[in-house]
Amino acid sequence: MTFEEVRQGWSPRRGEGYHASAPGKVILCGEHAVVYGRPAIAVPVRHVRARASFVPGVGDTLQVELPDVNETWVWPPGPASHPLVVILEEIARRAGRRPAGVLTVRSAIPVAAGMGSSAAVAVAVTRVLAQALGLSLTPEEISGIAFEAEKVTHGTPSGVDNTVIAFERPVWFVRGERPKPFRLSAPLPLLVAFSGIRASTREVVMAVRRRWEEAPSRYEALFDAVASVVREVRCLLEAGRVREVGPLLVENHRLLQEMGVSHPVLDRLVETALQAGAWGAKLAGAGWGGNVVVLAPEEARDRLRGALRAAGAQAVWTTVVGEVADNP
Ligand code: PMV
Repeated sequence: MTFEEVRQGWSPRRGEGYHASAPGKVILCGEHAVVYGRPAIAVPVRHVRARASFVPGVGDTLQVELPDVNETWVWPPGPASHPLVVILEEIARRAGRRPAGVLTVRSAIPVAAGMGSSAAVAVAVTRVLAQALGLSLTPEEISGIAFEAEKVTHGTPSGVDNTVIAFERPVWFVRGERPKPFRLSAPLPLLVAFSGIRASTREVVMAVRRRWEEAPSRYEALFDAVASVVREVRCLLEAGRVREVGPLLVENHRLLQEMGVSHPVLDRLVETALQAGAWGAKLAGAGWGGNVVVLAPEEARDRLRGALRAAGAQAVWTTVVGEVADNP
């Protein structure tokens, strides 16, 4: 296996077919303001993954098994307007032949929680089929194929999820510009705590738009304040001054509260994390539910995990962004 294959989560096991995986993601800072042209930073959550396996078979059809959502179907043709069909067609076109056998997809990434579950499934499937059919795809190509699938899932995705997940690196994102993966100078130890509340990104984004229409100058000022936070976070990350990012995350959370996208459970989780010794914490993603992202020294991890669970978190993941796999 090459380094590039390891980095991309490929792990073929002889005799059992092919296996690939892809991480979840979390928005570190800049959500909502990013819809209005300001920058955002998203990072991979390598320890929570979607996994795809492919066992080649005879014939020329592919059985697709999605046990997490109780779906099984055969391609071609597969269900109309299904994101995975978009990927199967694209891979078959590039390889000049169809994958035949059984494709199984499982994901540990919660759905509708702002962790990029659909993009991670798309990337894992693209990786496993490319590997099985001998296609050598760059992270950029994988990201592009996953983006086409994301369009079927979300209508008008921003492109941040497929980029951060396919590159498995922190990404600087400005709407309308090509997302730019960037390098951290020091590892970024994070916890992601799931509130257990699923909220529709679309509805929260629409609510912010209504408020922005009612009070444009107030909201533009909030978005500008978020943009300054995001720029400062990037400088600190590039300088390896990780601890100093903490207060900026807290400031970003406060700005999100002012936008009206927080939730009492998210506020409680942020407060709990800070009291238990975190450097910083904020809601991550659209809000009204979903996750809180916590920046904390690795030695405080266990204490924080316990405190967050006691405060109502349904799940808590830990990850360190910028270790070798995210930051080659
Ligand atoms: O909840 P997520 O991770 O899908 O993030 C939504 C981020 C928003 O800025 C609120 C919307 C967007 O399209 O960028």
